[in-house]
Amino acid sequence: MRRLLPVSSAPAEPDVDLVDAYAYPPGRTWLRANMVASLDGAAQAPDGLSAGLSSPADKRVFGVLRGLADVIVVGASTVRNEGYRPPKPKPAYAAARAAAGQLPAPVIAIVSRSLAIDFTTSLFTEAITPTIVITCENARPEGLAAAAEYGEVLRAGRDRVDFPSALDALAARGLTRQLTEGGPHVLAQIAACGRLDELCLTLSPLLTAGPADRILAGPGLTGGLSMRPISLLEEDGSLFARYVRP
Ligand SMILES: NC(=O)c1ccc[n+]([C@@H]2O[C@H](COP(=O)([O-])OP(=O)(O)OC[C@H]3O[C@@H](n4cnc5c(N)ncnc54)[C@H](OP(=O)(O)O)[C@@H]3O)[C@@H](O)[C@H]2O)c1
Repeated sequence: MRRLLPVSSAPAEPDVDLVDAYAYPPGRTWLRANMVASLDGAAQAPDGLSAGLSSPADKRVFGVLRGLADVIVVGASTVRNEGYRPPKPKPAYAAARAAAGQLPAPVIAIVSRSLAIDFTTSLFTEAITPTIVITCENARPEGLAAAAEYGEVLRAGRDRVDFPSALDALAARGLTRQLTEGGPHVLAQIAACGRLDELCLTLSPLLTAGPADRILAGPGLTGGLSMRPISLLEEDGSLFARYVRP
């Protein structure tokens, strides 16, 4: 992995230290998104999944971002489509996580109103820290009962999840290093409510066309949301950009 930005007059690093490059800012709650897009802006490969846009380097970045995070907020459609499994503790992160007072692995927090979630999968039966289900007050009582039996329920908002309340509730539990892996409908709402601090975007060197969403989907953001680039890495033609809110 080589660094393209920021440009430095120092001798080029032989290989960028990703853990260092993606360290969370200390002492504050920070929400970053990690997304991959094709060169023509698709958030899904033609098979409807994101794996076709990824690469070995993207998988490394994905792993590092998880290794640094306390919680991974993700929409129920992404969990259903991508077959999410519980993150396992990784020896490479064990010491740093223990020293920082973090759980051995990040906890998954699924956003869902329907609660049409398969609670018998490993995401619930094998998670070392109970998977969190973020839902709303008016969710189906049977769904709520099942979610409470297999995971931990966090209710925020009346008819839909209110993202600021949900993210604050996660932070109140000490889950301040927040990562969202989308999907596009969840990410658009997080951006719309002003809670997206950072976007980590992999640009895959692949053109796909087709009907795929972009990395944000839903109502337009009035006036757009400006982001400032702070770093750009490259490996095997994939670009790894970091943008923060100005
Ligand atoms: N390119 C990338 O980096 C990337 C990343 C992630 C996913 N993806 C792709 O994107 C696709 C899925 O993304 P998506 O945008 O369609 O779905 P999504 O954002 O993953 O999930 C949408 C679902 O989340 C729940 N939800 C969202 N907002 C809510 C709210 N305010 N209150 C209550 N529940 C809410 C609903 O679940 P219920 O239906 O259960 O109520 C909704 O159907 C997948 O095919 C995946 O491959 C790509």
